[in-house]
Amino acid sequence: MNKFYITTPIYYVNAKPHIGHAYTTIAADVLARFYRQQLGKENVFFLTGTDEHGQKIQKVAESAGKNPQEFTDEIVAHFKELWDKLDIKYDNFIRTTDESHKKAVQKVLQTLYDNGAIYKGEYEGLYCIGCEQFKNESDLVDGKCPDHNIVPELIKEESYLLKLTELQPELIKKIESDEFKLTPEKYKKEILSFLKNQTLRDVSISRKNVSWGIPLPFDPTHTTYVWADAFLNYLTGLDWDGNEKKMPKFWPADVQLIGKDILRVHATIWPAMLMHLGVELPKILFTHGHILSGGKKMSKTLGNAILIDEMLEIFGTDGTRYLLLSAGTFGEDVDATMERLVEKYNADLANGLGNLVSRTLKLSEKISIKIGTENHGLYTEDIVNNPEIGKAIDFVWNNIKNLNKYIEDNKPWELAKTDTIKFEDVMNKLVHGLYDISEALMPFMPETSEKIKKALETKESVALFPRIK
Ligand code: MSP
Repeated sequence: MNKFYITTPIYYVNAKPHIGHAYTTIAADVLARFYRQQLGKENVFFLTGTDEHGQKIQKVAESAGKNPQEFTDEIVAHFKELWDKLDIKYDNFIRTTDESHKKAVQKVLQTLYDNGAIYKGEYEGLYCIGCEQFKNESDLVDGKCPDHNIVPELIKEESYLLKLTELQPELIKKIESDEFKLTPEKYKKEILSFLKNQTLRDVSISRKNVSWGIPLPFDPTHTTYVWADAFLNYLTGLDWDGNEKKMPKFWPADVQLIGKDILRVHATIWPAMLMHLGVELPKILFTHGHILSGGKKMSKTLGNAILIDEMLEIFGTDGTRYLLLSAGTFGEDVDATMERLVEKYNADLANGLGNLVSRTLKLSEKISIKIGTENHGLYTEDIVNNPEIGKAIDFVWNNIKNLNKYIEDNKPWELAKTDTIKFEDVMNKLVHGLYDISEALMPFMPETSEKIKKALETKESVALFPRIK
């Protein structure tokens, strides 16, 4: 691989960002940093942004007594502020209200209309405004959308439709062959079974009665359906102007990170739009689970939500980044109660890493060891070629454990008095081992990584993660 393009979903701006948004964005930032380390900065592109049109946002803005643009501007500022606090280094932050995005969307829709992929018709279905999606009866539990706990509205209106049915066999092939790779495997299975057991209906890509959206170029009495608008961010975020014959150099995306609630649209409507344009599909669609609290999806109404600001206050930037990604098996649903987070913080950061750093620094005061600036590269080839966040974290923490054990086994404080040669040998291993660990930690905990490296050079003590009582 010689370039790496990673995206997060673009977030709805109906409310301030929460822990779920932070989870995906930190994961994407970690992968982007990992690849910048491996491939060089100029070969990596990390895109995130905000999804600002549609009925949901129009309504929330109205009830706040603001015009939608003013409303979304305010929320976007909160997202950007949070990403700064979490040390997220994106290469671009796309907003679907950007003029260039709107223009490109119109150009694409015109192309799709001209080539017959979009046609005028009527659409009838159950619409969940929370999801901004039409739902099948089989998606509902007791007649309600299980994600938003609301009864979807029956909508029947004139609409423009994107052809999906005719693409179904080809889409199945692309997923089966991993040309469009859905991972982890269970999600590939889930989507294939969905696609094989029912015929995909052509999907509505316009709304007649929603004014807060991009007008269709060929019929301005309709606005673009918010998902059709949103998907194109993955291309307009690379400064694409909508011309399918001139694709940006970072395309196709190497990894698109998404939560499981938005898998189906990403595995159907999104590839269909690209297939109709004759554009390559993203290489990997990686789906992760949700953050739960006490076994239930975190939500304000249930009162079990952990606020991201609260985490930042208690654990700091790097502590929050680490804990969110390591609180469970990365990718699966993660149950994150405050007690468990504190426990993990104390065990892994205050004790595991903190002890290793403070003991190594203290002992190394007695000798001089030169650390080269060459890249030692702690990660194994397997992780470099096929990085998985969970595996990489386990790998680093095993190294921390081993190095702590190495200290206990060799008791360098005794060797310092009895055997200077062996002492220097042990210290060499220890200092270089810790340097390697700091390099490997960089994608997860950039600031901590820098602090450790600097402390190894200057031999000044460093306060990393104070124990939480
Ligand atoms: N705007 C759409 C995405 C369009 S992408 C072309 C959207 N936005 S969202 O703000 O509702 O959700 C964005 C992401 O946050 C989704 O991947 C979703 O899974 C994730 N999360 C929202 N709550 C979450 C948790 N509690 N835990 C983990 N992630 C969750 O959908």
